[in-house]
Amino acid sequence: MQNMAVLTSGGDAPGMNAAVRAAVRRAAYHGVKMYGVYYGFDGLIRGEIREMSLGSVGDIIHRGGTILFTARSEAFKTEEGQRKAVEQLRAHGIEGLIVIGGDGSFRGAQKLSQKGVPTIGVPGTIDNDIPCTDFTIGFDTALNTIVQAIDKIRDTATSHERTYIIEVMGRDAGDLALSAGLAAGAESIIIPEAEQEMDDIIERLLAGHRRGKRHSIIIVAEGVGKAADYAEVIKQRTGWETRVTVLGHIQRGGSPTAFDRMIASRMGAAAVDLLLAGKTGRMVGIQHNQLVDIDIEEALSQKHKLDLSIYRLARSLSI
Ligand code: ADP
Ligand code: F6P
Repeated sequence: MQNMAVLTSGGDAPGMNAAVRAAVRRAAYHGVKMYGVYYGFDGLIRGEIREMSLGSVGDIIHRGGTILFTARSEAFKTEEGQRKAVEQLRAHGIEGLIVIGGDGSFRGAQKLSQKGVPTIGVPGTIDNDIPCTDFTIGFDTALNTIVQAIDKIRDTATSHERTYIIEVMGRDAGDLALSAGLAAGAESIIIPEAEQEMDDIIERLLAGHRRGKRHSIIIVAEGVGKAADYAEVIKQRTGWETRVTVLGHIQRGGSPTAFDRMIASRMGAAAVDLLLAGKTGRMVGIQHNQLVDIDIEEALSQKHKLDLSIYRLARSLSI
């Protein structure tokens, strides 16, 4: 294999740049040319493909976002879009593709693999919702951003003796909410993976109040609903002053943490090695701090699991 390409797709995630850098440098190390596909699968269909030099990935390891840009491409979901994408890769002499993105991007990668393009997926999403890997690139950075934000909210919550309901991203997964809840010491964590009755949330708030807590922090994963709706019910049932913070896209930006840079570097380089070893339709993952590669279809047929012992621990610590 002489020519490979790399693209980023779906929601961007801090650390994607470190993965692109690792892919370009690892390819060069093996004497292979690496091309960058700009704007995800949309750019692939349009043929926005350029060779990447060693220098093109200099000074990006610490930057959030993705220098290759990204897209949510409706066109690529069609047979016609996928056919054009394959044609573009052939026209540019590209023999293998690395797709850095979330589960949607992996489904796209799998389609290309089925059409005969050797393709490897690298998990990049703040949601941490991809099965078969303990961590996805960007999760740790987003988690730290959330915890820093909650620490600040806690200051003002205490001063005013208010209850704060904070909504965090994660799509259908509660990973960000759960980890942030444990790390920030939230009173309640509301996630899709664990049913929680409103009565229970209120009872825990009242128990804390009786014990003399001056404020309460409740984290709501976007996958369960709107923080504003929870705030309204809590206000009605307790009579307390509530405030809502929807953290939004600040969770997706910022310089990647050392952890994200490390896993991105390891997984980006591993993707190159897998293509050179003749593998296709596989995703790279990290399990117990070891690199692994798994069939994408097999991985996506599994349900992403959340460690609910962390949920129980967080509940036991916030009494
Ligand atoms: P993420 O990769 O972060 O999960 P999306 O779900 O938006 O983000 O997926 C990114 C892109 O992957 C989509 O915009 C689309 O182009 C492609 N994609 C998603 N699902 C499929 C599918 N079933 N077949 C082909 N391409 C897909
Ligand atoms: O998948 C990453 C993510 O940030 C999710 O947490 C969130 O639900 C979604 O993307 C937001 O998408 P967009 O940036 O297109 O609004």
